[in-house]
Amino acid sequence: MDVIESGPKLRAQLDEARAAGRTVGFVPTMGALHDGHLSLVRRAREETDVVALSIFVNPLQFGDPSDLASYPRLMERDLRLAENHGVDVAFTPSEAEMYPNGEPEVVVHVGPIGDRLEGASRPGHFDGVATVVTKLFNLAGPCTAYFGQKDAQQLAVIRRMVADHDVPVTVTGCETVREPDGVAMSSRNLRLTDEQRAAAPCLYRALAYAERLVREEEPDARVLKAEMAKRIAVEPLARLDYVAVVDDATFEEVDRISAPARALVAARFGEIRLIDNLALPHEGGHS
Ligand code: PAJ
Repeated sequence: MDVIESGPKLRAQLDEARAAGRTVGFVPTMGALHDGHLSLVRRAREETDVVALSIFVNPLQFGDPSDLASYPRLMERDLRLAENHGVDVAFTPSEAEMYPNGEPEVVVHVGPIGDRLEGASRPGHFDGVATVVTKLFNLAGPCTAYFGQKDAQQLAVIRRMVADHDVPVTVTGCETVREPDGVAMSSRNLRLTDEQRAAAPCLYRALAYAERLVREEEPDARVLKAEMAKRIAVEPLARLDYVAVVDDATFEEVDRISAPARALVAARFGEIRLIDNLALPHEGGHS
């Protein structure tokens, strides 16, 4: 596995691969790799010839400086895991490499899709994500990029950005990888106390219940949201931030399930904020 810290070197290496007729798969991450990230690597390995993984903790997408400071940084371990999972190129730029002139003067601004839900709780977050992903896509060049449905709103924002800006990248969304008790894998889970970790499955239970209600033909989003909130309220350690039912493409809240929709939850366990979501079944197929 090649470890590359320079943007131009990454571009040159992937250009060379493409010139030789090889396809490129790209997995952007902020490191602290777990099975969720590695499932994206596996998918890229299956579908493309050269797999590139980036590890960069992007300061632009953190509103809270203490959240940025406490983000786990485990580079050596991450590189070992990446190599063992068949990554060909690890891109590990420094902050100075990515932002040589400090905060960029020209950023990618996300419209209303970035203001709702996660965007409302974390102002500026999706502009920071869209800006860094644009830079990463420009450095990686034409490729298939793999993102997790765990961050479904991020995935929707990136799909929209690629469509709106004619970016030569095919975006593939991948299933959320969960712990045996249903908790979505996340680097934040490691920061929960034992009691908070024991309470965390209430998020998935709430989502799974909403999915079951839809399968049993409950189409009213208000009912689904109330039932989800009830299942989170039973856990005294969980402080609900939001429950929502949205159109899967626009992330606008819906009143009834008719097109592909998604149920989402966000809650705090002490200082730690967890998010999760689940696609809801709809008439004419599974979303
Ligand atoms: P990060 O949180 O490191 O996540 C990297 C990728 O892994 C994202 O596409 C995320 O959705 C996916 N992922 C995380 N947990 C997952 C799980 N349990 N199952 C499946 N996929 C999972 O998301 C980011 O980094 C950043 O915002 C980034 C896109 C790299 C831009 O800085």
